[in-house]
Amino acid sequence: MSEQRVVMCEGRLTDELRNEVKDRAPEQVYILVDSNTKKLCLPLLEKDEFFSKVKTIEIKPNDDHKTLEALASVWTFLSQNKATRKSMLINLGGGMVTDLGGFAASTFKRGMDYVNVPTTLLGAVDAAVGGKTGINFCGLKNEIGVINSSQSVLIDVNTFRTLDDKNFRSGFAEMIKHGLISDEKHWNDMLAFDLDHIDYSQLSTLLRDSIAVKEKIVAIDPYEKNIRKALNFGHTIGHAFESYAMESGSPILHGYAVAYGMIPELYLSHKFCGFPKELMREAVHLIKDNYGAMNVGCKVYDHLYELMTHDKKNVGDGRILFTLLGEKGIGDIKINQDVEKKAILEAIDYYRDVVGL
Ligand code: GLY
Repeated sequence: MSEQRVVMCEGRLTDELRNEVKDRAPEQVYILVDSNTKKLCLPLLEKDEFFSKVKTIEIKPNDDHKTLEALASVWTFLSQNKATRKSMLINLGGGMVTDLGGFAASTFKRGMDYVNVPTTLLGAVDAAVGGKTGINFCGLKNEIGVINSSQSVLIDVNTFRTLDDKNFRSGFAEMIKHGLISDEKHWNDMLAFDLDHIDYSQLSTLLRDSIAVKEKIVAIDPYEKNIRKALNFGHTIGHAFESYAMESGSPILHGYAVAYGMIPELYLSHKFCGFPKELMREAVHLIKDNYGAMNVGCKVYDHLYELMTHDKKNVGDGRILFTLLGEKGIGDIKINQDVEKKAILEAIDYYRDVVGL
């Protein structure tokens, strides 16, 4: 996989993007937006005369539009507007836009350059970095796709100022995850961040460090054969919470599901891998104080377990495999931990106890 440049460019987004275009000298440039980023973010780029003349491709927002139809509409636009394999696509949006746009660019004429400009914190810390691209298909998330990095990721934290509190916290949950799988220094920097009074300059530094955690892991294992599974911490139970919330008609944001999923997975880390109790408590309180709780009744335990068995990412030979943390504490990653149903349900009990359900 080719190397990906991540640039924090506070107040210099259009200049950096312009330099990117100049350096790569594409034959044509296109910008992909969804209807939200067209309204909220595109005007920032269009202040620059060059970008005001660039052709824009618009798709509908949200994960339920990460479809083959939307992808085909991007391919069609590129084809009808004379894109070549030496063209460049700029993906301006959250994870849905960077996933779909990354896949469109990676496959159009067997691959053209693309640049991600994430406009959500969740997108910046996760989807835009590391080369996973794709669409949902046949009711399954990210069923079709390729791993192929954008040439660059350009981030201006000022674009996150328009995020509501919940969407900001949703992105921050993935940063908490990166904190837990990194080192004590970064973890302590995470703990020091005040989510109630956001300092955007501090955020920029923290986010750069957080992305570096992912970059380091992806550089070792881009195709998720081993250590990249560390990035799934909190997601095995988190995805089950997310699906359950969706089914019950009260969907929660992805980051909230991951935050809640980290609580039982911290418990499993302590119980099976000796993750220190004090650190477990510290992380659990951070999550509890900032994310509240989602209601999980004891009658849905079996269903949650079933949802975990359907998540093919976690399952090997009928077993549910977790990424946990070990006795050395922060950053002591233990992948492929086989945990039995009884212990998983006990971990959900712990979640309910700790959040006061
Ligand atoms: N979202 C986890 C990964 O990129 O591997």
